[in-house]
Amino acid sequence: MLNQPDNTNPISITELQNRLIEFQARQVELEQQNQVLSEQVAQLVNDNRTKTEHLSKSDNALSKTVDQLNYSRHQLLEREAKLNSILNASIEGIIVIDTKGTIVSVNAAVESIFGYSAEELIGQRVIQLMPITIRKKQDYYLEKYLRIFIPKAIGQIREVEGLRKDGSLVPLDMSIAEFPLDGMQYFSGIVRDVSTRKHQELQEKEHLEKLAHVTRLGLMGEMASGIAHEVNQPLSAVVNYTQVCLRFLQNEKPDLEKIGDVMLKANQQALKAGQIIHSMREFVKQRKIQRSTVDINDLVYDAISLFESDFKQHLVAMRFELTKSLPIVFIDRVQIEQVLLNLIRNSIDALKDLPQFTQRQLSIETSLNELNYIVVRVKDNGPGLTPLQQEKILTPFFTTKSSGMGMGLSISRSLVEAHHGTLHFNSKEDKGTTFYFTIPTEKPNG
Ligand SMILES: Nc1ncnc2c1ncn2[C@@H]1O[C@H](COP(=O)(O)OP(=O)(O)OP(=O)(O)O)[C@@H](O)[C@H]1O
Ligand SMILES: [Mg+2]
Repeated sequence: MLNQPDNTNPISITELQNRLIEFQARQVELEQQNQVLSEQVAQLVNDNRTKTEHLSKSDNALSKTVDQLNYSRHQLLEREAKLNSILNASIEGIIVIDTKGTIVSVNAAVESIFGYSAEELIGQRVIQLMPITIRKKQDYYLEKYLRIFIPKAIGQIREVEGLRKDGSLVPLDMSIAEFPLDGMQYFSGIVRDVSTRKHQELQEKEHLEKLAHVTRLGLMGEMASGIAHEVNQPLSAVVNYTQVCLRFLQNEKPDLEKIGDVMLKANQQALKAGQIIHSMREFVKQRKIQRSTVDINDLVYDAISLFESDFKQHLVAMRFELTKSLPIVFIDRVQIEQVLLNLIRNSIDALKDLPQFTQRQLSIETSLNELNYIVVRVKDNGPGLTPLQQEKILTPFFTTKSSGMGMGLSISRSLVEAHHGTLHFNSKEDKGTTFYFTIPTEKPNG
């Protein structure tokens, strides 16, 4: 350290030299320190630059990742929107539930089938869409019910009933699929509203039953006189017996034993009349299809045997072209025989009108078509049908016969259709007519 020169104490040369040396050493030391410091500063600047570069690199990578994420998210949303629009365009309702039976999602069709909005359904138990009868039984055991019901229903189409918001029932065809998602198990139920189909089936059935009823009523007309005669007999016997009794009672000492005998007879006759009326009622009752296994060729032979005398009388030559070993069908024998009888009767009626010396030919064929349906053909070489007749013959009450009802063909068609078959014909004027009907060989459900 240099002190201020002291005028009172002059510094010696040696002292000054020492102080200079000391000063120079100090300067060297300071310069060295300065050197170290500037090196440190340079290092810091360098470090800082590297770090900044590094940071901007990671910043770039980060914004790239953010871009990629945004893109994926966009794609995901787009896919979800597409999927939703497909699901919502489907006319089938799609209900997704979890294993507890809670509704997870529904598409637009579900809303229109059941009348609930998606918000009203999501989070609710699927039992809400089932009829009260199932609901009452299964409410507490829904999980167990689903565990038992679903495996049986997977991969099948089942006819079930759904419950709408307004309390009405809707017939549904339902299929169920199972799928895992994020480690959880879900079920999707696909339901189709089949009300229109059910309604048509019901109408067809009613139509058929009405027609069958009409034939019976028609037959009833024919039978009415016979029945009246039958009932009349026991009734007049009752009248006679009661008159006898009345006469006996006019005696001073009526013979009760005799009266008893006559009353018993009157009673028996009255019962008889009752039985006749009862069987008449059974006859007019609407009859349901009663199926049994039938060999169609046997049925043809049975039907033909009823016309032996007609063939002889009208000189009709009969030909059979029956395919052997046809599959057995499960049909109402009486009804299909009725169809065959109607067709054969029509052919005989047509052949009767041919000129006397023309060969009258009737043939019956049975075969199996490519759809595995039995086909039965009744073919005649009668006068055939005019185009106008062809248009009308299948409509009820169309007849060209003085004693015909015009119901034979329309009833036949209904009977065949009730067996899920079809009735057709082809005809050429002056050449003849062929009627043919099909019957499925598969056993119907239910
Ligand atoms: N094989 C046939 N050849 C020519 N015409 C036919 C033949 N089958 C039916 N038809 C015509 O079709 C009409 C209607 O036949 P359909 O069996 O329905 O009634 P229908 O025989 O007149 O009376 P029914 O109720 O007694 O059977 C007949 O009146 C007849 O004119
Ligand atoms: Mg007829």
